[in-house]
Amino acid sequence: MKIFVTGCCGYIGSHTCVELLEKGYEVIGLDNFSNSKRSVLDRIKQITNKEIKFYEGDMLDRNMLKKIFTENDIDMVIDFAAYKAVGDSVKKPVEYYTNNVSSVLTLLSVMQEYNVKSLVFSSSATVYGVPKIVPITEEAEIGGTTNPYGTSKLYVEGILKDLCISDPEFKICVFRYFNPVGAHQSGLIGEDPNGIPANLMPFISKVATGELECLSVFGNDYDTKDGTGVRDYIHIVDLAKAHISGVEKLNNSDGGLLIYNLGTGVGYSVLEMIKAFERVNNVKVNYKIAPRREGDIAECFADSTKANKELNWKAELGLDEMCRDAYNFSLKKY
Ligand code: NAD
Ligand code: UD1
Repeated sequence: MKIFVTGCCGYIGSHTCVELLEKGYEVIGLDNFSNSKRSVLDRIKQITNKEIKFYEGDMLDRNMLKKIFTENDIDMVIDFAAYKAVGDSVKKPVEYYTNNVSSVLTLLSVMQEYNVKSLVFSSSATVYGVPKIVPITEEAEIGGTTNPYGTSKLYVEGILKDLCISDPEFKICVFRYFNPVGAHQSGLIGEDPNGIPANLMPFISKVATGELECLSVFGNDYDTKDGTGVRDYIHIVDLAKAHISGVEKLNNSDGGLLIYNLGTGVGYSVLEMIKAFERVNNVKVNYKIAPRREGDIAECFADSTKANKELNWKAELGLDEMCRDAYNFSLKKY
């Protein structure tokens, strides 16, 4: 089975490609390296002993997509290509909507042209806005997003819903990721953000390796177990494996839109993350309490029962593995 993976060299894309190749799927990949490095391709090969058929290009480039669909008999698409920095999206909304929404429209129209009607799409827990109840189920209301990044995911979900209504042959699986962290156990691929990381785990890793001096804990006066923000951190390899389950589910589906939360169902606070990282890796993580970050919510964690039941998938790796693998990757400095 041939699967076209957009954004194949990024954090989630690279780990998913490893799982797909290891399961025997043929992978055709596209990336424009706007947030990744070409060397990821070699490292995927090192892990799996297999190669992606790779195209360097932009998902907004209709001719490039047509070339890929013409040259390969594609059965399904997994779409990871997007910009993902929340703060950046507030400063550059046009770029974000273009890259995250227009590119999907281009992809969908080419898929229609080539009669490819199976898609796995990367959405985010951010579509829930400020959750009224935790854990969050897929039935929870979506909307109330507070930045263009989150809104771009909301728009795409709406487009996919309309598409499935218009054409019942379309089979679409939307994954709402919670907080993916960690790296492949080999240490060959992981999260490698440009510049100073905005997310917690890469920031902790860089403080632990000495690249950054001190972590600011954004607020300790939330209504949570210890006053710091609580999130549902999920190991990247567990998240990648869920895509295999998604592909299998779509293969057995008659059509329509499926939506799944991908999390562990367990919420950890910022202080719990720091303590776990220190304990597992036997390192010190300097931190100070700082004011709340604008737009942050107190608590967000998933009810992933639907994915557990319908996809026969469950996150298996715990907090210790997340901390161990994140640190192991950050020590390699690729
Ligand atoms: P990432 O930035 O590491 O990977 C995205 C990849 O897509 C990069 O390699 C980038 O170079 C490529 N890309 C971006 N725009 C492109 C374009 N127009 N054409 C071709 N390639 C393009 O991000 P990630 O963490 O792997 O996220 C993957 C997907 O999951 C994104 O859609 C993101 O919004 C979503 N998501 C991520 C998280 C997270 O915490 N990492 C959470 C929720 C949702
Ligand atoms: C962020 C994004 C969200 C995206 C998600 C996964 C924002 C506002 N939201 O969510 O859209 O889907 O990542 O990629 O950026 N923290 C600190 N100090 C830091 C960094 C973070 O204390 O230096 C705290 C935060 O306040 C939060 C927790 O750590 O309580 C997790 O933060 P982060 O990793 O940025 O993820 P989210 O805020 O969940």
